[in-house]
Amino acid sequence: MSSSLAFRRRISLNQGWRFSRSEANRDGLVYDVRSDTPPRDRVQVLKPWILPTANDLISDCSKHYSIPTQPAPGNNISFVQLGFNDSSWERVTVPQDWAIKGPFYVGDGKPVMGGMGRLPIQGVAWYRRTLDIPQADIDGNKTIYLDVDGAMSYSMVWLNGYVIGGWPYGSTSYRLDLTPHIRPGNLNQLAIRLDNPVQSSRWYPGAGLYRSIWLTTVQQVHVPLWGQYVSSRNISKQSATVDIRLQLKNKAKTDEEVAVETEIFELDVSGRPGGKVLSSHLIPVKLRTGNTAVVNTSLVITNPKLWGPPPTQQPNLYVASTRLSINGQTVDTYETQFGIRSLKFDPDNGLFVNGERIRIQGVNEHHDLGALGVAFNHRAAERKLEILRELGANAIRCAHNIPATEFLQLADRMGFLVIDESVGNEVSEQTTGTSGAATARWLCSIVREEDDLGSRPCTASKNAARPDVPFAGSLDMINLNYQGEGIRDTPAYEGLQGITTKPSYGDFHRVYPDKLILSSETSASLSTRGSYFFPLTREISAPVLDTRPDGGGNASLRAISDYSLYTTPFGASPDKVFAKQDEAFPYVAGEFVWSGFDYLGEPTPYYSARSLYFGIVDLAGFKKDRFWLYQSRWRPEVRTAHILPHWSWGSEREGQVTPVHIFSAADEAQLFVNGRDHGRKRKQEGEYRFRYDDVLYSPGELRVLTWKDGKEWANETVVTVGNEHGLRLEVDRGKIKGDGLDLAFITAKVVDANARVVPIAENNIVFSVEGGGAEIVATDNGDPYSFGPFPSKERKAFSGLALAIIKAVNTTGETITVKAESKGLRGTRLELKIV
Ligand code: GAL
Repeated sequence: MSSSLAFRRRISLNQGWRFSRSEANRDGLVYDVRSDTPPRDRVQVLKPWILPTANDLISDCSKHYSIPTQPAPGNNISFVQLGFNDSSWERVTVPQDWAIKGPFYVGDGKPVMGGMGRLPIQGVAWYRRTLDIPQADIDGNKTIYLDVDGAMSYSMVWLNGYVIGGWPYGSTSYRLDLTPHIRPGNLNQLAIRLDNPVQSSRWYPGAGLYRSIWLTTVQQVHVPLWGQYVSSRNISKQSATVDIRLQLKNKAKTDEEVAVETEIFELDVSGRPGGKVLSSHLIPVKLRTGNTAVVNTSLVITNPKLWGPPPTQQPNLYVASTRLSINGQTVDTYETQFGIRSLKFDPDNGLFVNGERIRIQGVNEHHDLGALGVAFNHRAAERKLEILRELGANAIRCAHNIPATEFLQLADRMGFLVIDESVGNEVSEQTTGTSGAATARWLCSIVREEDDLGSRPCTASKNAARPDVPFAGSLDMINLNYQGEGIRDTPAYEGLQGITTKPSYGDFHRVYPDKLILSSETSASLSTRGSYFFPLTREISAPVLDTRPDGGGNASLRAISDYSLYTTPFGASPDKVFAKQDEAFPYVAGEFVWSGFDYLGEPTPYYSARSLYFGIVDLAGFKKDRFWLYQSRWRPEVRTAHILPHWSWGSEREGQVTPVHIFSAADEAQLFVNGRDHGRKRKQEGEYRFRYDDVLYSPGELRVLTWKDGKEWANETVVTVGNEHGLRLEVDRGKIKGDGLDLAFITAKVVDANARVVPIAENNIVFSVEGGGAEIVATDNGDPYSFGPFPSKERKAFSGLALAIIKAVNTTGETITVKAESKGLRGTRLELKIV
């Protein structure tokens, strides 16, 4: 993390862009010819001018790309010139995801189908912005970089009509040196062209400048991008050794004698440097002109405050602040946040963090933020992590895109362990013998070259690997997707196409007794919040099959039963996963559930939908029933007894079998239906829920009493509610900042005359805001088959709920009034303070 201290200036370029997108290629440029671009004789290819952008990342200088000597095609087109009149283009602020506002492509034969989220991600877009760079900022002794945290995709950048470089891959960030083409004391024209293809992903990739853009000004001697790397070792309560590897760059025309000094501070809970812990000695470095150098320092911290996942540990952080000076004058400062923690990957007993066995209770997360798309927003990401923390998750696998730096910083601050996607997911090399293993070793050698302090293991996730195929052996640990618990190996899955795998934790453990095993993807359960279909399977895990009456799906509603028993053809219900893990305890380190939240695209098995069904939490952030199944296992101290389904059915269900399940950490439960005792049940080994599968529906009341270790635990009641009568609003926080970035997440609930949520309500809700410069950014209801555009101020409730996301611009101390109205219902309002 770089700072905005005096000798290094990093300013945000997020404001003030003009934007224009077209589905057609208006300028005749391409990065390279693809199957979806015009043919070679009708386009100009810019790849040779873009490739040199990667040079700083290629350690072997003989493989660096040279900038072509002839002028780049495209330098003369109007969009890149200062004089071009872009006043008719849309004004935008980045991060921006141009596709998220829709409209959705509904139906067949559309340019973007269900797999990629049915949103208009395709086309060529231009972003333009001027830079006013004072003469003093570029006095012949400074370098000005453009840092692009994320641009989806095939970006090309011009400054004042010259191609500076670009980056085809949309998921990683890049840096460009603007210095040679800056016109100091004048307006400078920046132009960025993106070209997003339709067949690029099997989930929603997003589109646009979707992460922050920065202008970083440094002296000629400076720390380059990601130039400081901190790791820790020899960790005990008494002391820890902190290793710092610092890169220096000298762009000056003379050799320089540089002194390097690092100070370490504690970070307080708000992320600000607190007390100073120690300083290094001054380290002299001779830095040749045009060269880079690396300085390694080791410092010992006494009584370190360790970083570890809550609730048993605290995520304490430090910051290493490094100063470069020449002849006593500071020329650069650079800061890196870090935590001190020991990790032990024990093949027999799982993961140890700071000596404590931590069971990995993880979830996989895609990079979209639901109705906000992929445009990074700090509060939306924080809310996601807060909900996952409430669930009991302590780990995130970032699948399968590189996360925003800010997301990783949040995870550090909140104490989540992270798999920052590894060298492969379900790649075919897992089955190709020695050649696959060689590829894995080569990729891991690159990882080790970058992570030369050896702080992390290198791995890849496998779903069809066999222990006797050498791919697994070439990695530091064994990450299994689904195959640990077994794939299609129980009667309910018989006859389905695809491989059948018996639970394979044991086989891998026998063949690789020296490697830690974990499940990097488990379950792949499918469900739609608050939807229940009958009859219910009697199995503990079953695939969604529209061909069977108890197959869990409703093809016309594109919805899947929320009993948490149904899965993809290769999946397993949470109950089956838990049982297999408990058999393999303690050597299996834990799991990453597929997935924590629903995400856009990949709507298995109903590809006519917009978003998928895998989440424990839906796309709007509302909890599905599964939430309480995981919470009772991951946070067994929480006293809950969650009853499903709802008990507000129409007269057609009266007398029909309507199974009642209870998710609780209790070990005994007793269910009463309208006062009638349905028996006291004790969970048997390998059981994780209480099942009353033969209950007949009659309106009234479900009441459950539970016990744990013979003592009363939690009691719960669910009743048949009345008709839709009014609306209730709830907000995640009572105050927001008026900075246009902070968000309030407002839940509208359709309630009966007694203020009880009507679980089948589908009323159309109209949201409005007044005061405080507030705006409604997006609405949603979590239904994968809902195609109202996200920016709409109206949203039909789904299973009783709808969400509105609000921001406020440029006001403090004012009050925002949020109103929700619905025809025939009593409306309501809520007040929100801006701070
Ligand atoms: C896995 C894959 C994930 C996701 C999941 C559910 O095989 O790694 O990316 O597609 O299945 O379909």
